[in-house]
Amino acid sequence: MKIFIDTAKISEIKEAISWGIVDGITTNPSLVRKAMETEGKGKKIDEYIKDILKVAGEDRPVSLEVMSVASGDMIREAELLYEKFNGIAGNVVIKVPVNTYTGDYEGLKTIKALSEKGIPVNCTLIMTPEQALLAAKAGARYVSPFAGRIDDYIRTMKLGLTPGKDFQKGDYYPWDGTDVDDNGIRSGSDLVEKVVMILDNYDYETEVIASSIRNARQVREAAMIGAHIATIPFNVLQEMLLHPKTEEGVKKFSEDAEKANYREIFS
Ligand code: E4P
Repeated sequence: MKIFIDTAKISEIKEAISWGIVDGITTNPSLVRKAMETEGKGKKIDEYIKDILKVAGEDRPVSLEVMSVASGDMIREAELLYEKFNGIAGNVVIKVPVNTYTGDYEGLKTIKALSEKGIPVNCTLIMTPEQALLAAKAGARYVSPFAGRIDDYIRTMKLGLTPGKDFQKGDYYPWDGTDVDDNGIRSGSDLVEKVVMILDNYDYETEVIASSIRNARQVREAAMIGAHIATIPFNVLQEMLLHPKTEEGVKKFSEDAEKANYREIFS
C-alpha cells in the first residue's frame, strides 16, 4: 500500500519523507489554513505551496483542492492551479468534490472536463461506493472515501453520540460496525472496502485513497482491504510506530549492550 501524508505542514512532510515511507501528499483548505497559521505565517500562500511541491519532489503527487462549487469556476481554478504550480515538480493533482450542494452535478462535470484535458483529479469527499463508481467513470485518477467522517456520521446521526463528549476524533470505531449502518455502510473501513471491491470488479485504473484516517487501526484495515493508498495525518503515522513492548525491548537491549561491552565494537 502506498502511503500519502495528509498535511500541508512542510516540517511534517520533510520529517516523514526522511523516514522513507511517503509516496505522496494530500492537502485540503482546512489543512492549508492550519499550516499557514503556524509555519507558513508571514509567507505568501503561492510561495508556501511551491515549497510543498519542491519538498515533495517529482515522484510524489501533491493534491491541491479547488475552492468554488460551480463547475465552470472549479475548472478555471483547477487549470490555474495546474498552470501555476505543475511546472515546479510536475506533481500536481487537483482535488475536486464528487458533488456540491448546488444540486447541479458540478463535481462530475468538473472531473470529466479536467480528465479530458489530462489534468489528474483526486475526487474528494466520497461518502458512498456509488459516488466512487461515478467519479471513476467520469475519469478521476484517484477517489478518496472518507473513512473517519463516515464513522463520525454513524456515531452522531445513527447512534446519537456527541463528538468531543461521547467519543474523541481519534477513537476507533469497529470495521463491522454496531447495530446501525448508513444505507448499508457499517463503518468507514466498510466504505473503503466496498469502494475497492467495486472498482476492482471492473478493472478501473482509478486508485482508492483511504482518507479521513484518524487512528492506526484504520490504516491496518485499509491495508487488509487492499486500498491502493492511505493518506495519513502525521500524528497517526507516529501512533503506528508505538508499542510499549517495543520501547521496553529497546531499553533492555541498550542496557545489555552496555553490559556486554558492545561499545568496544564501535570505538
Ligand atoms: C484527505 O484527502 C482529506 O481531505 C482528509 O483526509 C480529511 O480528513 P478529516 O476528515 O480528518 O478532516
